[in-house]
Amino acid sequence: MAGKILITGAQGFVGSNVIQQSDPNCEIHALSRQPGKVHRAGLHWHTVDPSDAAALGKIFERHRPDAVIHAAAMANIDECEAHQALAQSANVGFTQTLANLCRAHGAKMVFCSTDTVFDGEHAPYQESDLPQPINFYARTKVEAEGIVAQLGSKGVIARLALVIGLPLVGQGNSFLAAMIASFKAGRAVTSPTNEVRTPVDVITLARALIELATADHTGIFHLSGNDGLNRFQMGQIIADRLGFDRQLVLPTDSSTMLNRAPRPRDVSLSNAHARANLKTPMRGFEDGLALALHGG
Ligand SMILES: NC(=O)c1ccc[n+]([C@@H]2O[C@H](COP(=O)([O-])OP(=O)(O)OC[C@H]3O[C@@H](n4cnc5c(N)ncnc54)[C@H](OP(=O)(O)O)[C@@H]3O)[C@@H](O)[C@H]2O)c1
Repeated sequence: MAGKILITGAQGFVGSNVIQQSDPNCEIHALSRQPGKVHRAGLHWHTVDPSDAAALGKIFERHRPDAVIHAAAMANIDECEAHQALAQSANVGFTQTLANLCRAHGAKMVFCSTDTVFDGEHAPYQESDLPQPINFYARTKVEAEGIVAQLGSKGVIARLALVIGLPLVGQGNSFLAAMIASFKAGRAVTSPTNEVRTPVDVITLARALIELATADHTGIFHLSGNDGLNRFQMGQIIADRLGFDRQLVLPTDSSTMLNRAPRPRDVSLSNAHARANLKTPMRGFEDGLALALHGG
C-alpha cells in the first residue's frame, strides 16, 4: 500500500492511532490545531484552524492527497449539547469544507461517524437502517453523513462503535484511559448498565479506516466489535484484565444522571458488512481489549 493520506484530528485518540497503524511507505499529512508532537519519516504535520478554508485549500493544492480520513470532531456529547454553534461548525462546517476540497481534487473521503446516530430502540442496526439521533452531537453527525454521501463513490461513511484503547497523545476521548487513571487513584467509576454498545478496539478500527481509504470501498460501513455489552460489564472485564478490584466499578442508571445529554439505550451495530468485505478482522471485546492494551 502506498499513496498519500490526509488525516484530520491527527492528535486525537483515533487520529493518532490511525497514524501509528499506517504503512511507513505511505505519505501521511496530519492536520491538527496544535503543532505535531510525534515525528517519523513520511509524516508531515500541518497546524491549521479548521475554519480556515483557504489554508486547507492550500494544503490540498500543494500535497494532493489520494484520500482523507476525517477523524476530527467535537466528540464529547455533553459539550456538543451545551455549545451547539461550536459543535455545528466543528462537526458539520469542517466536514463540508473537506468534502468540497475532496470533490475539487478527486480525493476519497472516509468520514468517522458514530453508532449514536441511532435512537437505541431497534438494535442491532444494519447500514441500511435510518438514523434517528436523540442528541445534538448525533444530529451533527447525521448532517455530516449527508454531506459525505453526496460524494457518491468517493465517499465512505464509517460508523464507529464505542472505541476502546489508549490515546498516543494526551488523553483524547478514550474512556479506557480515564477509567485506568481512576483505578490507579483508587477512585470508583460509575458505569451505566442501561447503555449497550458493540465496542471496537482502536487498533482494529485504525486498520479498517486505512483499508477503507486505500482499497476500493464505498458507502456505509459499521466498524464495531462482535460483542454487545453494557458499560458496567465492560468496566468489570477491564478491571479484571488489569488486575484492579472490580468493586471499583459501580453500576448506575445514566438516565437518572443530571446535566447529561440523552444517550441511546442500545446502539449495537451489526458488523456483518465489514466482516464480509474488509480484510481487517473484526474482534470480540476481550480480544480487542488485549490488542489495544498490548499494541499491534
Ligand atoms: N472515541 C469514541 O468512542 C468514538 C465513537 C464513535 C465515533 N467517534 C468519532 O471518531 C472521531 C475521532 O474521535 P476521538 O475519539 O479520536 O476524539 P478525540 O480524541 O476528541 O479527537 C478528536 C480530534 O478532533 C479535533 N477537534 C476537537 N475539537 C475540534 C473542533 N472544535 N474543531 C475541529 N477539530 C476539533 C482534535 O484534533 P487536533 O487536536 O489534532 O486538532 C481532537 O483531538 C470523531 O469524529 C468522533 O466523533 C469516536
